Amino acid sequence: MELLGSKDEVRQAVSAARREGKRIALVPTMGALHEGHLSLVRAACGRADYVIVSIFVNPTQFAPDEDFESYPRDLDGDSAVLRAEGADIVFTPTPAVMYAADAQVTVDPGPLASVLEGETRPTHFRGVCTVVAKLFSIAQPDLAFFGEKDFQQLAVVKRMARDLDLPVRVVGCPIVREADGLAMSSRNAYLSAQERAAATVLYRSLRTAETLALDGERDAALLADAMEECIAAEPLAVLDYALVVDAATLDPLDAVGDVPARALVAARIGATRLIDNIALAGG
Ligand code: PAJ
Repeated sequence: MELLGSKDEVRQAVSAARREGKRIALVPTMGALHEGHLSLVRAACGRADYVIVSIFVNPTQFAPDEDFESYPRDLDGDSAVLRAEGADIVFTPTPAVMYAADAQVTVDPGPLASVLEGETRPTHFRGVCTVVAKLFSIAQPDLAFFGEKDFQQLAVVKRMARDLDLPVRVVGCPIVREADGLAMSSRNAYLSAQERAAATVLYRSLRTAETLALDGERDAALLADAMEECIAAEPLAVLDYALVVDAATLDPLDAVGDVPARALVAARIGATRLIDNIALAGG
């Protein structure tokens, strides 16, 4: 496995692999890798011959009041696990390598980026789309792997690839959870022991909606109310949103059962903002 810090080195390594007829996969990450990330790497290794993992804490997707500076970083630990998984390249650019000092062109992610996460993080998906488009351009992958954990990000990136005719297949992978249901996230490291216990409320709220839907409840507002009530019962949690949407368009739904539906939740546990989601019956 090679640890590469420059775009040219990645381009050269990828062209060599392509000349050998290899199918190329990219797994974009911000590092502090956990089993959720590694599930993407395993999926990539299973479907491609040459796997690039990028580790880049992308400053442009963090708002000034967010956790860019304190975001967990562990390049040595990450490299060791990626070597064990069989990744071919780890691309670890610095912000100065990634962005020209006077860079000014960005990707407009469109209306899909202004709902849900976009309401609290209005500049987030512009930063995500821009860096992902750059990573696609540098690594030129046939396949790129993203987690359903960030369900809106997956939808926005798929839409970007389609609308801009980017020659890459964006593959979504299931959410990996801790034994008690908490979705794995690098940000879980911020939680105190008490907050960590409270954080399971996100998954519990989603399971409540899932169970109601499985029992035949179709009213999306009622499902959302049940999630809200569940979050409200946890004193350490402050709800941001609990919604039921069309899984393809992210449009709010009146009823579940006709099209694939997704329940999404965002809540603050202490100072840490967590997100999670689940497919609902008929979805
Ligand atoms: P990061 O939060 O590091 O996540 C990298 C990838 O891992 C994303 O596709 C995310 O959805 C996936 N992932 C995270 N936790 C997961 C879990 N518990 N189960 C399954 N997949 C999981 O998302 C980003 O970085 C950035 O926005 C990025 C796409 C790299 C652009 O900077």
